[in-house]
Amino acid sequence: MVKLFIAFAFMAIVAVGYSKECCSAEDKQSVSSQWHDLWTATNGGGRVKIATDVFTRFFAKNPEARALFKNVRGDDFNHPEWVAHTVRIMNGFDLCINNLEDTKLFNQVVGHLSSQHVARIADGFDPNYFDLFKEPLGETLESVISGFNAIAWDNCYNRISEGLKSNF
Ligand code: HEM
Repeated sequence: MVKLFIAFAFMAIVAVGYSKECCSAEDKQSVSSQWHDLWTATNGGGRVKIATDVFTRFFAKNPEARALFKNVRGDDFNHPEWVAHTVRIMNGFDLCINNLEDTKLFNQVVGHLSSQHVARIADGFDPNYFDLFKEPLGETLESVISGFNAIAWDNCYNRISEGLKSNF
């Protein structure tokens, strides 16, 4: 009886730990709803401003990465080519979040995005940058989302990042 109790207790601990670490259904719900509220209430200019804030923070922490964006004018945040690029990235991120709850579609979305970055290895792209992106992105989101659920975002960004690295 005691052994059975210990086994159940162990399974319960593992289950709680698993749900906390792995972008659980609760995490997905929280992230999707916070993102939806932010994104639908933000117009095109506001979205570019958010993306610019993320990249300002990202380049401050990883200055060498800026050179990877020379084809899209990463040297000039006001350049239309850079603005168009930030829109592409944020639309890609939007797709990831919108499909968090549909595993099959989610895997297709992140797999495609992953391949688009694999094509940039020769230019010096390193998949580790997806992990380094989490902190600046989180800082920006925390500054614009009230009641930012840092744990859920952290868990679900890890899931997205794993997917973005899947084809490397
Ligand atoms: C959530 C994270 C990210 C998403 C959703 C994302 C999405 C995208 C998308 C949609 C494109 C355009 C692909 C194409 O049109 O071929 C792109 C291009 C690119 N991304 Fe990302 N990206 C992410 C993070 C990063 C990070 C952290 C880096 C860091 C260096 C990066 C580097 C690049 C580069 C160098 C390009 C090519 C730019 C060019 O056209 O010359 N991405 N990304």
